[in-house]
Amino acid sequence: MIKDFTKDPRFAGIEPLKNKVWLASPMMHGKEQEYVREAFDTNWVTTAGTNINEIEKEVAAYIGVKYAVALSAGTASLHLATKLAGEKLYGQPKPNAGTLAGRRVFCSDVTFDASINPVAYEDGEAIFIDTEYDTWNMDPIALEKAFEIYPDTKLIIVAHLYGTPGKMEEIKRIADNYDALIVEDAAESLGAKYKLNGQWVETGSLGDYNCISFNGNKIITGSSGGMFLTDSKEDADKVRKWSTQSREAAPWYQHEEIGYNYRMSNIVAGIVRGQFPYLQEHIDKKKTIWERYKIGFEGIPVSMNPFDEEKSVPNYWLSCMIIDKDAMCKQVRGESDYLYICEQGKSCPQEILDALALFGAEGRPIWKPMHMQPIYRTHPFITSEGNGRGRTNAYIVGNGIDIGADIFARGLCLPSDIKMTEEEQNIIIDIIRRCFIK
Ligand SMILES: Cc1ncc(COP(=O)(O)O)c(C=O)c1O
Repeated sequence: MIKDFTKDPRFAGIEPLKNKVWLASPMMHGKEQEYVREAFDTNWVTTAGTNINEIEKEVAAYIGVKYAVALSAGTASLHLATKLAGEKLYGQPKPNAGTLAGRRVFCSDVTFDASINPVAYEDGEAIFIDTEYDTWNMDPIALEKAFEIYPDTKLIIVAHLYGTPGKMEEIKRIADNYDALIVEDAAESLGAKYKLNGQWVETGSLGDYNCISFNGNKIITGSSGGMFLTDSKEDADKVRKWSTQSREAAPWYQHEEIGYNYRMSNIVAGIVRGQFPYLQEHIDKKKTIWERYKIGFEGIPVSMNPFDEEKSVPNYWLSCMIIDKDAMCKQVRGESDYLYICEQGKSCPQEILDALALFGAEGRPIWKPMHMQPIYRTHPFITSEGNGRGRTNAYIVGNGIDIGADIFARGLCLPSDIKMTEEEQNIIIDIIRRCFIK
């Protein structure tokens, strides 16, 4: 049972928020409806039309790649990117087999499962690479270890968590050393910038195959949708072909490859097209939210999700916090339930999330690491120390490193909705501060 915090003396005087504050919800501006109406008026209510053509051009130009292919979801983009990498590396499989059958792929561990499920769609085995504390993304040291253990691996899937770019310079250097390809999952980081070898570039242009998402909770949205981004005309053409059922040049339906129905609709593209001019405005609002939390948490034992100030500019999609180790009250999590013991001066993510929920604000646990997910428990997990599985020993003290599990245990995603007012955010900050009252 969730504790009734409204009767908890720590929260005396706080009124529930009048309007629910969401984690991250869409913000529309009006232009979106005009483009959708245009699609209706011209009867391009299908997976072709001006909105698709224009938004592909605009996004490609913004990201600094030659081609963008608009798809039904970020997941579709990740699937086709992963399949394309598999085909490039290992050739075209039979129709009933994936391109990665019998192959290993090194994958970000703390991410949404859509990043890495395509490895399974393609019959490969995801090997999870532990996280680092500097950006909460794939740890290059653990990646190097993984190549030492599995030197024949040729593909890496790397995500930028919560809009913060990972250590791409190091990751790309390691990939080059081992002749490996990179699928970049920039679903959460559209508009985030990274300094690669002294040059500022956009996330979504850093891999061999790059993916973004326009899901309803993202920095801009089409209600759904995603894009595949590339400099290769051949790859763009292939993804467009696969996404529209792999039709060959024949008067009838003729197929030599497996196809998918993954193309973006011209209606969705109209929404994305209307949103796109507001990308920077959304990023600025998200940044203000992150900074207000940072200042608001001064003096309590927590810190914000970090980023490399020299080498990256996040899009601040989700503001997150992590509790100092010695300020954690006891918290345990099962597969779908949890328990914690309230302790004066201490707190834990589940207590804070419960308190926020009761006052009308939506937070979320940190994405549970993939190596801890029941479905992937049999898959290898590599840390900076090597094999991350089976690390304890009944006769020796200590249990090895697992940074992803630690961030999951001590961190949480804060309400980051750009429609949240300053007053609402101040109440949220007040609630969180009171969780740590001594
Ligand atoms: C890191 C990451 N990758 C992939 C996806 C999948 O994108 P979509 O929902 O557009 O399929 C999401 C979010 O939804 C995500 O957060």
